[in-house]
Amino acid sequence: MDKRERERPRVVLGVSGGIAAYKACELLRRLTESGHDVRVVPTASALHFVGEATWSALSGHPAATEVWESVHEVPHVRIGQAADLVVVAPATADMLAKAAHGLADDLLTNTLLTARCPVIFAPAMHTEMWENPATQENVATLRRRGAIVVEPAVGRLTGVDTGKGRFPDPVEIFALCRRVLARGAEGAAVTDLAGRHVVVSAGGTREPLDPVRYLGNRSSGKQGYALAATAAARGARVTLVAGNTELPDPVGVDVVPVGTARQLREAVLKAAADADAVVMAAAVADFRPAVYTTAKIKKVEGQEPEPIVLVRNPDILAELSADRARPGQVVVGFAAETDDVLVNGRAKLARKGCDLLVVNEVGEHKAFGSAENEAVILAADGTETPVPYGPKEALADTVWDLVAPRLAENRR
Ligand code: CTP
Repeated sequence: MDKRERERPRVVLGVSGGIAAYKACELLRRLTESGHDVRVVPTASALHFVGEATWSALSGHPAATEVWESVHEVPHVRIGQAADLVVVAPATADMLAKAAHGLADDLLTNTLLTARCPVIFAPAMHTEMWENPATQENVATLRRRGAIVVEPAVGRLTGVDTGKGRFPDPVEIFALCRRVLARGAEGAAVTDLAGRHVVVSAGGTREPLDPVRYLGNRSSGKQGYALAATAAARGARVTLVAGNTELPDPVGVDVVPVGTARQLREAVLKAAADADAVVMAAAVADFRPAVYTTAKIKKVEGQEPEPIVLVRNPDILAELSADRARPGQVVVGFAAETDDVLVNGRAKLARKGCDLLVVNEVGEHKAFGSAENEAVILAADGTETPVPYGPKEALADTVWDLVAPRLAENRR
């Protein structure tokens, strides 16, 4: 039977030997409860943390570790071949090294070598191990080959340590698995952004007037977050520069929080230095108060307030487009328009000099704050791609559908 015709997607949950193995139980439970057929393949060290009985009870299948069990079924080949998705969670530094080098000394590493489906690694380890050049090179190798290696979260680690290396939230890993499986089921090239670095800006800037007041806008950040999450699910390394949002960090994405337009510019330019694509979804304030008053502005009885003098902020999108950090870097902008949407959009695309411009018509229930969006994507080559009203994730995927072939034309 063709993999796509099967009713229950087959997922292999590889578990390597880290304390976060207990959090993989939550991922397993979510996968099985949502109708996935899950085979758990723990390493011998993983069983020190969570035993075989737990994995088989939660998955409904025996959980084998070695290639010597049920040899007549040739499990070291069959499990990987039959899978629609392999997710290794947690992935230790040792597991990443073995996978990068093609070692095959147990059932999980054999499965990784035989899998032809998308593979997700959710690393968890101490910061020093994650930052070690050996680990970083292994991660780069795996990503270059098309695996999705999510960035570990920052936070409390085992013992007294805190830093980068924390196992990402299982709910978020589950969301990533579903996204990857859904694209595969549509027959799409699942990891077409593998090996690429993309930068997305999201949210809105706030320009302070005094210690308690600012000029801001109503951007929620949802569209930018959807762009970041979908790019990660397509295999990209993602830097998300987020202005004043209250959304949870998408799994596997490096989030850089910023406040003002000038901070956003600095963070975006820094990340763009080695990026293949930059998408400016943030609502950047065009102006800021000319003067920042360090003491709170007080009302004075009998006096009108002083007018607020504004000055221009730098146009980051125009700057990125005019001065590409890498040859062939793809730059995407957003435009919110209230009338003459396409005419204004075309003019803005030309003025900003970007490759693609996503033009939204703003109005009630559209764009700001809403989970849905409708747009037309204008390209510098004259083409137009209408995106019907729908979830911001669908619009995000259409943006990447247009970015990916433009990247393929450029050298890695
Ligand atoms: N943008 C930017 N820097 C700014 C202002 C906007 O990089 N200082 C980016 C936004 O992130 C978005 C695009 O430019 O991708 C369009 O922003 P918009 O405010 O709609 O366009 P403007 O050029 O400001 O035109 P106008 O306000 O006149 O419509």
